[in-house]
Amino acid sequence: MDATLTRATTLQGSLRLPADKAICHRAALLSAISDGTTRIIPWSTAEDCRRTVEVLRELGVPMVETREGLEVAGVGLHGLRAPTEPLDCGESGTTIRLSCGLLAGQPFTGRLTAAASLCQRPMRRVVEPLSQMGATIEGASRASSSEVYPPLTVQGRRPLHGISYAPPVASAQVKSAVLLAGLYADGPTTVSEPAPTRDHTERLLQALGVQLVREGSRLTVHPPRRALAAVPQLAVPGDPSSAAFFIVAAASLPGSRLVIRDVGLNPTRTAFVEVLRRMGAAIDVEAHDQAWEPRGTLTVESAQLHGTTVTAKEVPLLIDEVPILVVAACVAEGQTRFEGVGELRVKETDRLHSMVTGLKAMGAGLVASPDGSLVVQGGRPLHHATVESFGDHRTAMSLAVAGLLAEGQTRVRGVECVAKSLGNFFELLASVVGSSIVKVG
Ligand code: S3P
Repeated sequence: MDATLTRATTLQGSLRLPADKAICHRAALLSAISDGTTRIIPWSTAEDCRRTVEVLRELGVPMVETREGLEVAGVGLHGLRAPTEPLDCGESGTTIRLSCGLLAGQPFTGRLTAAASLCQRPMRRVVEPLSQMGATIEGASRASSSEVYPPLTVQGRRPLHGISYAPPVASAQVKSAVLLAGLYADGPTTVSEPAPTRDHTERLLQALGVQLVREGSRLTVHPPRRALAAVPQLAVPGDPSSAAFFIVAAASLPGSRLVIRDVGLNPTRTAFVEVLRRMGAAIDVEAHDQAWEPRGTLTVESAQLHGTTVTAKEVPLLIDEVPILVVAACVAEGQTRFEGVGELRVKETDRLHSMVTGLKAMGAGLVASPDGSLVVQGGRPLHHATVESFGDHRTAMSLAVAGLLAEGQTRVRGVECVAKSLGNFFELLASVVGSSIVKVG
């Protein structure tokens, strides 16, 4: 399926985005091992989250999708049952890495399988610490490297050993996998993050009464002495990573005004808003609720953007927004540098390659270096082209936004992948730029 985007004149309106994908994964996983029923409201529409639900169902957790959200009948910390079928994680990196952490502490073996793109993604980062904790994990290997790839067979152990672990990469998925395994350890487990990453797992563990201590970059989870009492209702805000595509479009199209309501404002997810403001974007943030996961309203008006430097330290806090920030950098005046973005090479596709290829075809000036940095010479007019999603949802949506800013009609090929995080992306886009601008078929 391809999308055709015509240059838009302006963007106007208000939106609500589907529930945050990262929070929904964690809400499902942790309510599954709590005691009692949790209603997750609303539930994510992302294909990735559906995978987490299927994995948990196969582990014996009753889950029902209702009109409002997802109802999870938690089976307790020790209530998961051995799967009789492989646990299919589809394309979801969060599903496989977090499930690996959960399975590490179970008294049975589970096999986590993956679709083609996920089979290319590195798993050593979770296999290493979970093996140190006592799990036995086998994956696929390649002659050319010591990396481990899916499928993963996880032989759990109970109890695991509590460890102190310093991951070599800043990754919320790795941190979360180790913290989940830490619930089944014989003592405290510490993760020392090289740089801060999204903290949804920590917030939810605390909401469930788990003792979690943060000292600087060190996070220590203590295995719970008694059952985790389910939180009856978890209200999930809209996904800020989905909002980012619309925010950049509104910031870049002259005369635009966009209001995004009920969106997540967790500071470990909104660093991209700070970068855009630094680039001159007019974004007003109104926080409504500081409970559990902060949420509020974002109002964006268009402005002339200018270049900036995104430092390596900031990157883990906006890792999923780099592709759309690269589009903003193309329309900004002057140079923008993205430092330490090498992790983008191991996402659903190599996002440095997919974005550089697509935007260069549209006339942009940008270069990715082997040292993991990306430099964009902004201000060059974009023109239409036929560009590829490379099967990656964030590349597809970012190039579609670039298409709104380019002269003529841009075709983005292979856009069905947007379902991974935001299946109604093109409908939402058409609702704010006009239905004649966005065609999918
Ligand atoms: C995620 C963490 C990030 C992000 C991914 C979702 C999460 O991955 O890119 O889309 O839900 O924890 P890493 O932790 O590998 O950086």
